[in-house]
Amino acid sequence: MKAFIFDLDGVIVFTDKFHYQAWKKMADGMGIYFDEIINNRLRGVSRAESLEIILEKCDQKLTDEKKAELMEEKNNTYRELLKTMTPADVTDTVRDTLNRLREAGYKLAIGSSSKNAKFILERVGLIDAFDAISDGTNITHSKPDPEVFVKAGEFLGVEAEECVVVEDAYAGIDAAKAAGMKAVGIGDASGYDRADYRIQAFEELLGIA
Ligand code: BG6
Ligand code: MG
Repeated sequence: MKAFIFDLDGVIVFTDKFHYQAWKKMADGMGIYFDEIINNRLRGVSRAESLEIILEKCDQKLTDEKKAELMEEKNNTYRELLKTMTPADVTDTVRDTLNRLREAGYKLAIGSSSKNAKFILERVGLIDAFDAISDGTNITHSKPDPEVFVKAGEFLGVEAEECVVVEDAYAGIDAAKAAGMKAVGIGDASGYDRADYRIQAFEELLGIA
């Protein structure tokens, strides 16, 4: 193995609660039922696809303009919440493990569906911790499509079979396997049997390396 590709939301930082709060505010404003179980289905899924999942509970048919407006509203709320993030939002374990993987000679990348990935990495002081960032701004298909990880491998100049993806989303594990990469399930995906490795704690990556 030559490289680790990390999902961002739910692996490096815990922005899930902010996604939830921002979508909840939008859904409440529209009178649409939304809860944490539906929110779990949004993990790794693009903003537009997330909205479609939320709209399954909406009786009205919305125009594309209205959908764009709702996505913008959600993103504005989400970015306000992201502004509260600081370097203290990254655990010492995550920072230390990333440093040790780098010292061991591995290339490190981000593979995230989010268009806010760089903004988040800047907020938490990790923008220079990765050799490449593949995110929602350089893809046309989001997970479970492999594109975001294929691009990350290309940016690093590492072959797919030499990359390990670390993911908390089932859609992300499926994307990694579709890219021909090894997959590590953590958090929500730690029980997913398609993952090649299933871990409970971030530092367990040192045992895989
Ligand atoms: C992923 C999250 O990282 O990014 C999803 O797991 C989210 O829940 C997606 O929908 C897109 O994020 P953004 O920041 O571009 O709206
Ligand atoms: Mg995630």
